[in-house]
Amino acid sequence: MAVVDLHCHLLPGVDDGSKNMEISLELAADAVDNGVTHALLTPHHLNGVYVNHKADVLTATAKFAEQLQLNGIDLKVFPGQEVRINGDLLTAIDQDDILYADETGKYMMLEFPDNEVPAYTKAMIAEIEQRGVIPVIVHPERNTAILAKPELLLELIGQHDCLAQLTASSYVGTFGKKVANFSYQLIEAGQVNVLASDAHHLPGRKYEMRQAFEKLTKDFGADRAELFERSAENILNGNPVERPIVSEIKTKRRGLFGFRR
Ligand SMILES: [Fe+2]
Repeated sequence: MAVVDLHCHLLPGVDDGSKNMEISLELAADAVDNGVTHALLTPHHLNGVYVNHKADVLTATAKFAEQLQLNGIDLKVFPGQEVRINGDLLTAIDQDDILYADETGKYMMLEFPDNEVPAYTKAMIAEIEQRGVIPVIVHPERNTAILAKPELLLELIGQHDCLAQLTASSYVGTFGKKVANFSYQLIEAGQVNVLASDAHHLPGRKYEMRQAFEKLTKDFGADRAELFERSAENILNGNPVERPIVSEIKTKRRGLFGFRR
């Protein structure tokens, strides 16, 4: 069975992820150890620090794939971008400088700034959707504005068609209890659809996909873990994603909630 990681910074020397090919190969081997079979490579794009044009990512991904093969690492890699919402995004889409999660351009891995959901977000998402693209909001659990006001995410999922990606490390507690609890609540409320590593090469940060899927199975059952795996595969393939029933975040952390979908 395919295990797809939709968000990782494995490409060497293009952003704050892997610094060089040696580290990239190490991270790729880690991914394989974690059961990952397919990885969408998502360097930062248009985040105010890094620009990774479509053409450059395509070339770098091909080179990396070659090295993976030479080194016997059985990971299939695909070119992508972690796209930051910003004033130039629609122009970048219209100028064909965006890489989507899938080849057909149906899903976009979309990032917000760490501490806010910009006021123009809804209007821009409407424009993105008009172009036939569904944003997959990356790590909403790490956005301090959403953490303080979870309705911000619910509106984008409810009123728009957005999907959301939870980061494995958040869920297993690498960023602290608050983020871990919020991750749990987002899964419980059906507001996130997939788990991804967002792997960087940072001290104290490991490839935590296996651990996160084990926790997901323990907390919410094998069905939910399978749904997440299937959804990641569907996003990579540009297929429709089956959505769980979405509800508001519950204020109490735990209760007798059955599996909902
Ligand atoms: Fe990322």
